[in-house]
Amino acid sequence: MKILIAGAHGQLGLALARRLAGAHQLLAPGRGDFDITNRERCAQAIADTRPDLVLNCAAYTAVDRAESERDAAFAVNAAGAGNLASACRDAGATLVHFSTDYVFDGAAGQPYVESDRVAPQSVYGASKLAGERAVIDSGADHLILRLSWVYGNDGGNFYKTMLRLAAERPTLRVVADQWGVPNYTADLADAVAIAINRPRAELSKLAGLYHLSATGTTNWCEFARAIIRGAAMAERVTVEAISTSDYPTAAKRPAFSALNGSRFAATFGWNPPEWRDGLRRCLAARG
Ligand SMILES: NC(=O)c1ccc[n+]([C@@H]2O[C@H](COP(=O)([O-])OP(=O)(O)OC[C@H]3O[C@@H](n4cnc5c(N)ncnc54)[C@H](OP(=O)(O)O)[C@@H]3O)[C@@H](O)[C@H]2O)c1
Repeated sequence: MKILIAGAHGQLGLALARRLAGAHQLLAPGRGDFDITNRERCAQAIADTRPDLVLNCAAYTAVDRAESERDAAFAVNAAGAGNLASACRDAGATLVHFSTDYVFDGAAGQPYVESDRVAPQSVYGASKLAGERAVIDSGADHLILRLSWVYGNDGGNFYKTMLRLAAERPTLRVVADQWGVPNYTADLADAVAIAINRPRAELSKLAGLYHLSATGTTNWCEFARAIIRGAAMAERVTVEAISTSDYPTAAKRPAFSALNGSRFAATFGWNPPEWRDGLRRCLAARG
């Protein structure tokens, strides 16, 4: 297939490009060459290149900054997603769009399923939810994959921040009352590769919204401790548990945002790893 990755220089875009190279013809532009907020240029580029499939990894992901940059977040995450989806519809391409666990309010006691009520608590969450709706409303063939706590060895993420801070400080203070599931980018890329391997007509019948997630649930503090232990830094670095109220942020985050990925796993035949297994492989793959 000819596959265009929008936002190809982000952490998920890079993992997908690495995973799909060789098996597919890839177009992997960064924001400078393919800006999804420019409706006309976006439509023209897709009409000119005629991809079979578009993976939308482009997003405004600065969760706290979005609180004061609402228009910028919506321009990319909502209008941009809609631009891409309309262009895909017009060119007959299938769109795989990524969304977030932050569409939920965090009040659930067990991992969220696709039919659970959405109630974003932040501008970022609201902008991503608006993006999901724009993709659905476009009429393009689509998969919307909601992800949570994405990390890997590329780009910026919590895992890399913990490794950097652990090299600089003897004590890290990390919130222990926000629960979710960390997901290694390489595992997410594997899952996407399996899903898009279906013949397009079959994929079209499976169109819709899915939660894509590893298994197991943890909190940021436990995740940080697992990172520090796995990187053999635990002897000189202590991770102290704090509460959300000790670490005020501009955006409100859900207290519990684990996603139940059973529907995706059963539909596409993906065997989700436990999150600790993903972390082990991510640490082992460090340069
Ligand atoms: N990171 C997480 O923990 C997490 C959790 C749940 C869901 N997700 C979702 O997963 C997807 C991938 O996220 P990620 O973690 O890979 O994010 P990321 O590393 O921040 O990458 C996003 C990429 O999008 C690019 N971009 C921003 N605005 C653009 C525009 N107007 N046109 C084209 N590209 C643009 C960014 O370029 P610049 O760097 O130049 O701005 C960046 O390369 C997103 O949909 C995100 O909402 C992420």
